[in-house]
Amino acid sequence: MMFSMNNKIKYDLVLKNGNVVLPEGIQKIDIGVINESISDIGDLSSADAKNTVDCSGLHVLPGVIDSQVHFREPGLENKENLESGMLAAAAGGVTAVFEMPNTDPLTITPETIKDKLQRASRVAWTDYAFYLGGTGRTGPNLDKWENAPGICGIKIFMGASTGELMTASDEEVESVLSNGKRVVAVHAEDQYIMQENMKTILKDQTDVSLHSVWRSPESCFSATKRVVSIAKKYNRRVHVLHITTSEEMDFLRKNKDVASVELLANHLTLHAPDCYEKLGTLAQQNPPIREKHHQDALWVALNDGTVDILASDHAPHTLEEKSREYPKSPSGTPGVQTLVPIMLNHVNSGKLSLERLVELWSYGPERIHKLVNKGRIKIGYDADFTVVDMNKKNTITNSQQRSKTGWTPYDGMDVIGWPIATIIRGNVVMMDDEMIKPIGKPVIFQETILNNND
Ligand code: DOR
Repeated sequence: MMFSMNNKIKYDLVLKNGNVVLPEGIQKIDIGVINESISDIGDLSSADAKNTVDCSGLHVLPGVIDSQVHFREPGLENKENLESGMLAAAAGGVTAVFEMPNTDPLTITPETIKDKLQRASRVAWTDYAFYLGGTGRTGPNLDKWENAPGICGIKIFMGASTGELMTASDEEVESVLSNGKRVVAVHAEDQYIMQENMKTILKDQTDVSLHSVWRSPESCFSATKRVVSIAKKYNRRVHVLHITTSEEMDFLRKNKDVASVELLANHLTLHAPDCYEKLGTLAQQNPPIREKHHQDALWVALNDGTVDILASDHAPHTLEEKSREYPKSPSGTPGVQTLVPIMLNHVNSGKLSLERLVELWSYGPERIHKLVNKGRIKIGYDADFTVVDMNKKNTITNSQQRSKTGWTPYDGMDVIGWPIATIIRGNVVMMDDEMIKPIGKPVIFQETILNNND
């Protein structure tokens, strides 16, 4: 791809001749950028520009927002840090990330949010925001804490996963949902059911394929029903993360008035029992990867509008940690760098349209998290673009991965569709797999602005 420069100034950047995914459909059109924002969309063939990116034969998507990643800093930097996590994201075509609070210390106070913002400001390859963890104890503080800059929402874990954050009982969930107004994102696995299953199903067995049995469909369904019922009680919306079962999807389809829904690329791509046979503990994540009939139900829900957001849940653990005997092996897989190629490959296989994909990873986060001028290709919006080649054939490999962990469950997978450039607020951050410069900033949210101006 050509990245050319000339000296006459009007636009800071023009993206020429791309197939641009606009809210009204795909059009072959140019985009002009001034001061990090989209200033023109149209025929700019005779316009002056400091920089031009020739997008002939390529698709220009609104920047991909991965609204669920775990980057491990502070405390667990042997797995990942903010710099390596965001480097991997930008390398994979992602322009913004929302990072989870199960770090060490947990991100559950204003001070821990400030600390992450400070750390990120020095090293960010993408734009970023952080989840504030909600607990039974901190719930009553959410009203005054939740609108600090850089917070994308509140996260609760109803079942134990990596780290110490847990909000298992109805009383604790109520303590979060009865306070504050921001979106509450929920890891819906029922700790009490899983504890019982651990005694009766897992016992002292070491077969990783039991992962989806003791962390059962019933445990997910129970937690999802409980949190939706509490949300109704407090007239509050919840965002239910990484749904894995057909039962939950049928239930959520009927409860869209209170619940939005997020899916993961892994759950749409891998399925049991094959993934456990092929990948062993590398396929171990929470909630688990399940059988094909559940995956089929996720695809139906993705295409019928039940699903609002698609994310990676990038959850890096080292290969050494993953090679421990199950269940001592940690749950989670890296995924922020493979999200775009994996999903473009699904588009090329006819599983969803490119327009629907853009709804799920750009318009969905814009709507659910109430972003300010981010998430679509529209005049006045941030000039964030993920430029992709829908025809490029490539093989995903461990050696391409920029995450500290250096592995992917998709090692050796042939895909069609590849990210060619990552452009963040008009700055070219990645082109043709070459990393250029980290320029990330905090994402801005409508409610942060509203609540800090009165
Ligand atoms: O598999 C998972 N790993 N699920 C989670 O919810 C947490 C994540 C992690 O942080 O490792």
